[in-house]
Amino acid sequence: MVELANDRVLRALLSLPVDKTPIWIMRQAGRYLPEYRKVRQQAGSFMKLCKTPELACEVTLQPLARFDLDAAIIFSDILTIPDAMGLELSIVEGKGPVFANTVRDEAAVNKLFVPDPETELKYVCDAIRLCRQELNNKVPLIGFSGSPWTIATYMVEGGTSKHFSTIKSMLYRSPELLHRLLDILTQSVTAYLNAQIAAGAQAIMIFDTWGSVLTAEYFRIFSLAYIQTIIENLTKMAEKRRVPVVVFIKGGGRWMEWIADCGCDAIGLDWTVQIAKAKRMVGERVALQGNLDPAVLYAEPEVIRQEAEKILESYGEGPGHVFNLGHGILPDVPPENVKVLVDAVHELSENYHQQDEDDDEETLEE
Ligand code: CP3
Repeated sequence: MVELANDRVLRALLSLPVDKTPIWIMRQAGRYLPEYRKVRQQAGSFMKLCKTPELACEVTLQPLARFDLDAAIIFSDILTIPDAMGLELSIVEGKGPVFANTVRDEAAVNKLFVPDPETELKYVCDAIRLCRQELNNKVPLIGFSGSPWTIATYMVEGGTSKHFSTIKSMLYRSPELLHRLLDILTQSVTAYLNAQIAAGAQAIMIFDTWGSVLTAEYFRIFSLAYIQTIIENLTKMAEKRRVPVVVFIKGGGRWMEWIADCGCDAIGLDWTVQIAKAKRMVGERVALQGNLDPAVLYAEPEVIRQEAEKILESYGEGPGHVFNLGHGILPDVPPENVKVLVDAVHELSENYHQQDEDDDEETLEE
């Protein structure tokens, strides 16, 4: 097994004991950092930044140079797969992601193909390989993908959506066509994540940002079932370690019991969930990641510490918690406040973990 100087995140995601609660932050490399904005400007566009492994690696590591984070997450986007399928993604200022081509009918679905991760998406694998070299086993590197449903919403709607009218009418008018699209995406995501693991990703996160716009019944059929298929087909071990899988369904708190059964090792929680309640419901089955309201980072340092402590206290003693925000960090947050949060979590969480030497004997090997 490769020795990591800090493997708290990998241990906590598998509910193994740790000395302190680990923390990383969704979208930790991003616009709230002036050094990110500088490299982004040099690159010229978001996609150019993603597609240049040296620059993607540089921005991946930027937040780790500033803060004592317990993991890095590869800088990329959930929409690289449809871009590789020929939909041509751009991130437009003030508008978000926009596709040049959409997928709304049978002819468009027929044109789709499963991208080869080491060809069309090689830039992501190269960025991962480079980051692993640069990280030199200091902290683990997280790989990620969107869920088939969430990626499909962008492909069908053409970008961000308010009511998801186009994809939902596809669901109710031509469910078989939507299933075909989701099936191609499931194959694509599986190959992509396995390539990320082969390139060096040490944990995997699946983002289902829009699962909660579905009814409970259709969430299981059109989103969770596909996530489960992906997880069943992921590489379980790499470098003699388990590769934990986190599933984040924004707004999924009401379906925690189902999510806990999809084969994941951990559930990412948004800030609407009481983490104590989540632990009671599913804590025996999965670890939990989250779930500070991202807006807390606008507060004074003392308030940030108090709000962090509330979450640590709510989760209580024992392993199985990775601290994070309940969604991505907001672009106008002062970076100093992130340091306050990271340091507070490390300092305050020691009280919730046993400092027992015997714990070290439990390992991640199988
Ligand atoms: O967490 C990290 O640091 C890794 C990088 C990461 C990005 N996007 C970088 C990014 C991750 C994990 C994502 C995931 C992602 N992308 C999701 C799922 C998570 C979530 O937020 O729910 C979704 C839905 C997307 C689609 C997407 N890409 C959106 C909504 C945006 C933001 C648009 C905007 O203008 O705010 C993007 C672009 C994007 N992806 C940015 C970053 C840092 C901002 C682009 C920029 O620099 O201009």
